[in-house]
Amino acid sequence: MKKVLRERITYPDDKRLLVEEALAYYFPSGETYPQVIYEAMRHSLFSGGKRFRPVLTLLSAEVFGCESEDVLPAACAVEYIHTYSLIHDDLPAIDDDEMRRGQPACHILFGEDIAILAGDALLAEAFYLITSLQKGEPSKIVQVIGELAEASSARGMVSGQVADIISTGKRVDASTLDFIHTHKTGRLIQAAARVGAILANASEEEIEILSVYAHHLGLAFQITDDILDVVGQVEVLGKKVGADQRQLKATFPGTFGLNKAREMAKEAADRAVEALDKLKADTSSLASLARFVYVREK
Ligand code: IPE
Ligand code: IPE
Ligand code: MG
Ligand code: MG
Ligand code: MG
Repeated sequence: MKKVLRERITYPDDKRLLVEEALAYYFPSGETYPQVIYEAMRHSLFSGGKRFRPVLTLLSAEVFGCESEDVLPAACAVEYIHTYSLIHDDLPAIDDDEMRRGQPACHILFGEDIAILAGDALLAEAFYLITSLQKGEPSKIVQVIGELAEASSARGMVSGQVADIISTGKRVDASTLDFIHTHKTGRLIQAAARVGAILANASEEEIEILSVYAHHLGLAFQITDDILDVVGQVEVLGKKVGADQRQLKATFPGTFGLNKAREMAKEAADRAVEALDKLKADTSSLASLARFVYVREK
């Protein structure tokens, strides 16, 4: 709590720019046949985005004494996985959204066939990037790959997406809603933090504490995403608003009302910050990020 009040609420743009440059540097040039798959992947990857997850990887690594530059391949891999999830999330068979990151969704420009494959390719490219460019002890690299594989698997993000789909149009209880949010969004956010800490040689105990922080952070992030779907602005968000209600999605504002959802997002962000108290390192950047998640407008 104390820390929340002390932090200024700014987004770490220096880290975001570092990620932006690294993504541009690592991403395949796309001159290889058939070019359209690279165009589709590029379209989604470089059409904006807060780069929240890779920024979290960088900050987590830094907290445990590792330079941001040393974890950039793994951080960018997390962004590839996130971008894949957005492409598939927008497909007509899932959320049927036409706009993403202020641009037409991947399937609108390239068709569903290429969009599905662009998502598949980004997921695979993430692991290729780590194995080809991430430096570190082989055992750490294997651990990082395991983290991201699990977070993306049916035990992680996919289970959240499936629970989201099968809950559509139904009234769900609080624990189901919590499951959806902590899995569809929370698991990759948690993995993003853990990956940074693993590469920075944090101890198991430190990684567990960071995981508690990231669990609450992920929940705060998705509750806020739900809130922004109700009160946000298209031009700022870069995606349509009101989509959750149109589709009868199970959301926090839909289930608890806007005010209670706001309270719950703040509570989750506060819990994230409180978890950091158990770490000896300077965690002010992570506290600040938690505060950003709750007050963000995009
Ligand atoms: C949107 O994620 C989808 C969710 C998992 C909530 P972001 O809000 O991080 O979207 P970008 O990456 O900034 O476009
Ligand atoms: C997306 O949740 C979660 C994943 C992509 C895994 P949403 O469906 O709420 O995200 P937006 O609102 O379309 O960005
Ligand atoms: Mg969705
Ligand atoms: Mg969606
Ligand atoms: Mg949403």
